[in-house]
Amino acid sequence: MAKRAAIVGGGVIGGGWAARFLLMGWDVRLYDTGPDARRRVEHMLENARAAMPGLWDVALPEEGRLSFHDELAEAVKGADWIQESLPERLDLKREVFARIQAVCDESAVIGSSTSGFRPSDLAEGAARPGQIVVAHPFNPVYLLPLVEIVAPPETGEARLELIRRRMREIGCQPLFLRREIDAHIADRLLEAVWREALWLVSDGVADTAEIDDAIRYGFGLRWAQMGLFETYRIAGGEAGMRQFLTQFGPALKWPWSKLTDVPELTDELVETIASQSDAQSGRHSIADLERIRDANLVAILRGLKTRDWGAGRLLNAGDRRMAQGPKSLEAMALTGPLPTGARAVPLDWTDYNGHMTEHRYLQAFGDATDRFLRLIGVDEDYLAGGQSFFTAETHIRHLGEARAGARLTIDTQLLMAEGRKAQVFHRMWEDARLVATAEHMLVHVDLESRRAAAPGAKVQDCLAKIAKAHAHLPRPEGAGAAVGRKPDRGAKDKAEG
Ligand SMILES: NC(=O)c1ccc[n+]([C@@H]2O[C@H](COP(=O)([O-])OP(=O)(O)OC[C@H]3O[C@@H](n4cnc5c(N)ncnc54)[C@H](O)[C@@H]3O)[C@@H](O)[C@H]2O)c1
Repeated sequence: MAKRAAIVGGGVIGGGWAARFLLMGWDVRLYDTGPDARRRVEHMLENARAAMPGLWDVALPEEGRLSFHDELAEAVKGADWIQESLPERLDLKREVFARIQAVCDESAVIGSSTSGFRPSDLAEGAARPGQIVVAHPFNPVYLLPLVEIVAPPETGEARLELIRRRMREIGCQPLFLRREIDAHIADRLLEAVWREALWLVSDGVADTAEIDDAIRYGFGLRWAQMGLFETYRIAGGEAGMRQFLTQFGPALKWPWSKLTDVPELTDELVETIASQSDAQSGRHSIADLERIRDANLVAILRGLKTRDWGAGRLLNAGDRRMAQGPKSLEAMALTGPLPTGARAVPLDWTDYNGHMTEHRYLQAFGDATDRFLRLIGVDEDYLAGGQSFFTAETHIRHLGEARAGARLTIDTQLLMAEGRKAQVFHRMWEDARLVATAEHMLVHVDLESRRAAAPGAKVQDCLAKIAKAHAHLPRPEGAGAAVGRKPDRGAKDKAEG
């Protein structure tokens, strides 16, 4: 049975949590007293469906079921995880926690999205203080993996371990704070930068667009991949962090920054900032900016995946954890085409036509070929032994559109395996709709001589076994087709010629 989350408050953050849990296969019950919650959550879910599943190179679980509830008790009863994302008001949060604890399971985790309150503030007067922890996410919750966890001492090891496991299951990176502190870690840092930015506008040094440029063309790019300390270590040169501190330490005392002084948010300053922001970004609607932000974040995160670094490393670990399907040929029925791929179309694989761009079909089919090869024994050891298959020829037919977030599966039929050659035919599906096919001629190669050579005995055996079983399958429609010509027409032309 699917696990269940209760989302209490479905605004910017609650809606993002709902999307993340749902797309990770949890059922979600949502409670929000606002008049517009359903529409806003559904809008956010639409964005999340396009952006989130494609972060991974394997298929996510089936999406869970979303329901909206007018009664808090109905939403939270029986839930495994209850996430409070109400406005940042302590009295409101405390009152709602009391109502939640009166009906929820004692084993459930109650997380609060609070940006600033400590767990001891939140749990004052609570029936079970150890059950309430800060679980502070970042917007958009369905793309950014960090969740700061601040737990009171009463929480206990077993529950902390459960929290760690649950967060990992939904693709998050829990960061456990050693002790509680107002505004946790990240918002402390952000507030310092935010304060300085407001001073720079207030003092007329820069406008909002110039400050954003100072971040996004420079240190913002560094921060996404190495953070602060690792970046500064490099800046210290060969001598590393010690040298950096010696060199730049004195500047800290000058001081360049305004520290904890806060500019008065006068009507005039608010107007200045708001009108500069309109001039900077007013040509885009908020919905457009959300989509632009999501597409940029997906591109950055997937870029970090190829480097197996930072947040990309977390996503790669998720790929390994969520990989489905039989791991070996022995565990598979060979009577039909073999399952060789299941994934969603990443947002950064789509083009100006709004669908998957052509070279990404080859990438998805190439991954399917790799999976097929692993099934027949072409694994790391085999490659290390100096043998591999190279692709000699490819023919892809694009038969239907696939949009961002679409769930695709690929299956593979072995058309021929003779000596050094193997010919495979992949079909890509979105549910029962055929989206594309790819036919590849593979040639087995000795990696030292870089010449064609017979495969090893085990690989030959596997190929022979599949070939024998697949000989009974009908030849796939489209096999042997040349560009621009249907296969039957090709055969006719040949006969006439
Ligand atoms: N916005 C951010 O960037 C961000 C980031 C991290 C954490 N947070 C924290 O998340 C929490 C929620 O912030 P948000 O930005 O999503 O706010 P929001 O105003 O967008 O959403 C709050 C939601 O709660 C609902 N609500 C209000 N009172 C309610 C009640 N009594 N019962 C049920 N529902 C009620 C509202 O209808 C609204 O949909 C805050 O604690 C905030 O500090 C915000």
